[in-house]
Amino acid sequence: MKYMGSKARFAKDLLPILLKDRKQGQAYVEPFAGGMNMIDKVDGLRIANDQHEELMAMWHALIYEHWDPPKSVSETEYKAIKYHQDDYPKHLVGYVGFNSFGGKWFAGYRRDKEGKRDYWSEHYRNITKQVPKLKGVELSCKSYLELEIPANSIVYCDPPYASTTKYKDDFDHEQFWQWCREKSKDGQTVFISEYAAPNDFKCIWEKGAKTTFSWHAENLSPKESIERLFVYKQ
Ligand SMILES: C[S@@+](CC[C@H](N)C(=O)[O-])C[C@H]1O[C@@H](n2cnc3c(N)ncnc32)[C@H](O)[C@@H]1O
Repeated sequence: MKYMGSKARFAKDLLPILLKDRKQGQAYVEPFAGGMNMIDKVDGLRIANDQHEELMAMWHALIYEHWDPPKSVSETEYKAIKYHQDDYPKHLVGYVGFNSFGGKWFAGYRRDKEGKRDYWSEHYRNITKQVPKLKGVELSCKSYLELEIPANSIVYCDPPYASTTKYKDDFDHEQFWQWCREKSKDGQTVFISEYAAPNDFKCIWEKGAKTTFSWHAENLSPKESIERLFVYKQ
């Protein structure tokens, strides 16, 4: 799914690192699963959490309620849903809200001036292609702070990055890094995607990235952004 801050482009690089020492039966957990563009390529015991209610209602309806989403939504319908969200089922609001510019929540109706692209068909195809790969994933919709994580899990964190566009709520980055320290000390194997981290974390992978989504590049020129993966130095 096209999603603001999607890690689809890096999945090939990141997943072999995240899963290298995975033991049989070991859970793979994503507290910030978003567009599920990483976890859809992992098998076995998986937990996908995201605090975005409509997004998770959408994933639940698609994966567990056999919901067939609309193949097309007009601009009038898009606006009606955007401005009267309470009048529509949450899963539909989630589906429509994220088919916007840059995969960013209701950031504007996508229209192809030359008529060559049908963004609704693309959205439908991208999402329905993911659904079979997500069967069996345990879904959860809460703050990462409240997420219960099985002992000795692999925890991959892809939070809203610091110095990027604000999402629905403000994100407390210091509190997040502290949470990562505590989980690591508790025996979880925690990986974090970010551009930068506090000094007691070490970078184990990096790659230059041309960022197209404003989530990751509001204050940075695209050339400056380097995707990194961090772990806590214990
Ligand atoms: C960079 S995106 C994740 C993208 C995902 N890895 C992908 O490839 O599609 C960050 C996600 O964190 C979620 N989020 C923000 N604050 C959160 C919180 N406190 N607890 C849980 N999820 C949160 C947002 O809703 C968003 O989906």
